[in-house]
Amino acid sequence: MRPRPERRFPVEVTQEQVEFFQENGYLVFGRITTDEELEWLAEIYDELFTKRVGEKEGMYFDLGGPRAHKGVEVLPQVLGPERTFPELRETNYFKNGLYIASKLLGVPQEKISGGGHMILKPARYGRETPWHQDEAYWNPAALHHGLSVWMSLDPATLESGCLQFIPGSHRSEEILPHRHIDNDPLVHGLVTDQVDPAQAVPCPVAPGEATFHHCRALHYAGPNRTDHPRRAYILVFNAPPKRLERPMPRPWLDEEAEALKRLKSLARDEA
Ligand code: NI
Repeated sequence: MRPRPERRFPVEVTQEQVEFFQENGYLVFGRITTDEELEWLAEIYDELFTKRVGEKEGMYFDLGGPRAHKGVEVLPQVLGPERTFPELRETNYFKNGLYIASKLLGVPQEKISGGGHMILKPARYGRETPWHQDEAYWNPAALHHGLSVWMSLDPATLESGCLQFIPGSHRSEEILPHRHIDNDPLVHGLVTDQVDPAQAVPCPVAPGEATFHHCRALHYAGPNRTDHPRRAYILVFNAPPKRLERPMPRPWLDEEAEALKRLKSLARDEA
């Protein structure tokens, strides 16, 4: 791997941007890194996906893929790529993402923890990432104050599956009821039906531009109908969560845990 390009790309956050984020739960920030860094990131990205790095540890998986069935990959993902390439934490993308997150969340940088997640939407792949709140995936015994930074290495357009948000949805008191994609708890993907897509704001971005969304903001990404892959690199930044006396019910997480347990005992019986 060639060395990481070191040129810095300083960013600033305006009061208007902070207020827009607090009001709407998302923000189209714009450019967050350099062209050289994007090229370097693309090499790492392609290596992680070509070699399926982290597959054994469950850090590489396919939505609706290896856990549920074998076959063509439809939405491969890499969790925690910084474990394989620690330098990813030194990038403009990571450092600027953390800095902007701290301003938007109103929490000092040193209190924020973060990590990455790569989602590859292959060319001409006709499936969407349905409406959900990220927090629906998270620990129900805590109240979360966090956000995701979403940057694409390729043009993210309506045709290739850019993000769409429901403005103000992050201000809901509750996590909305979610269910599993295809009603299959082994597909690691959640969807909520309590959404009015007519309210959606699509946010197309060029390579190297980023959007930010709060962990409770409703969001969606359409299918990739283009002839090119859409490579997204997401960073999640969290303030320390507040422990709840009584966990908020998230039955879909229990269903998934149960289904995984059954799958493991089946595999044991077969062995
Ligand atoms: Ni999400």
